[in-house]
Amino acid sequence: MRYVVTGAAGFVGSHLLRALLERGHDAVGWDAFTDYYDPALKEENAAGLPVERLDLVDDPLELEGVDGVFHLAGQPGVRSFGAVFPVYVRENILATQRLLEAAARAGSRVVFASSSSVYGDAETYPTPEQAVPAPLSPYGITKLACEHLASACGRELGLDWVTLRYFTIYGPRQRPDMALARIVSCLVEGRPFELYGDGSQSRSFTFVDDAVEATIAAMERGRAGATYNVGGGEEATLLEAIETLGRIAGRRLEVVRRPRREGDARRTSADTTRIRADLGWAPATSIERGLEAQWRWAADRVAAA
Ligand SMILES: NC(=O)c1ccc[n+]([C@@H]2O[C@H](COP(=O)([O-])OP(=O)(O)OC[C@H]3O[C@@H](n4cnc5c(N)ncnc54)[C@H](O)[C@@H]3O)[C@@H](O)[C@H]2O)c1
Repeated sequence: MRYVVTGAAGFVGSHLLRALLERGHDAVGWDAFTDYYDPALKEENAAGLPVERLDLVDDPLELEGVDGVFHLAGQPGVRSFGAVFPVYVRENILATQRLLEAAARAGSRVVFASSSSVYGDAETYPTPEQAVPAPLSPYGITKLACEHLASACGRELGLDWVTLRYFTIYGPRQRPDMALARIVSCLVEGRPFELYGDGSQSRSFTFVDDAVEATIAAMERGRAGATYNVGGGEEATLLEAIETLGRIAGRRLEVVRRPRREGDARRTSADTTRIRADLGWAPATSIERGLEAQWRWAADRVAAA
């Protein structure tokens, strides 16, 4: 199949593009190498991969002959109140609107990377897809807007699309702003970790290889117009993750407490009944094994530097 992966120099996109190529697909990546975090890390992620430098907002989007687009490009991170909001509007809403319309014109299927952030502090746990979305962060609101754009393009322009709501993905090359990546780098470098909130916030942590499997399955066999939660099988609090990583690393993490940051949900917990039934997907990686892989990657990287 001919595929395009947007955001292919990012954390999840680079894993996905590599997996597609390994399976023999004809796949290329598009990425603008934005500076949300150090673009040098994105160069590292994309090393050896066919990633074109392209901005979804400004550049021509040529999708003729492309069977499917995995749309992962965007501005991530829930800390999105204030002066940064226009960036979220640009990289999420404007970029997605252009991409979806180009895909509808070309007849390419789109799998869109939305987020558990659309649920906010959800009305039920584990949270099924039909729960009423109530995002707490401007980021979550832009992702929800993108979901609605996809649905409008489906109804009005004939777009074939599937929405995935990713729940906190982790593993090698995780974005450096994410909590587990920050914990790992503090452990590797022997620095204190700034913990926002009391650490009892919990997440359905999802290992990146499992997220990639779900994403490819959604392209291959997802129901047109369906939304699927992509969430790990085990939920853990941040304090539990700190403990597990400390044990794996054989080191004690010094924790400096900071107030909770706005936009952060207290809990995310994925109800994965629908994706299990429709796609036969289930998370395969335990938190212990996944964190070991992330720790090993980070420790090796520092040792090699
Ligand atoms: N990592 C998670 O836990 C998680 C959870 C929920 C949703 N998501 C979503 O999944 C997607 C991938 O997340 P990630 O953690 O790999 O993020 P990431 O920041 O590592 O990757 C996103 C990539 O998109 C690129 N990009 C941004 N704006 C662009 C534009 N206008 N044109 C082209 N490229 C552009 C960036 O340069 C970046 O490389 C994002 O859309 C994110 O919102 C991620």
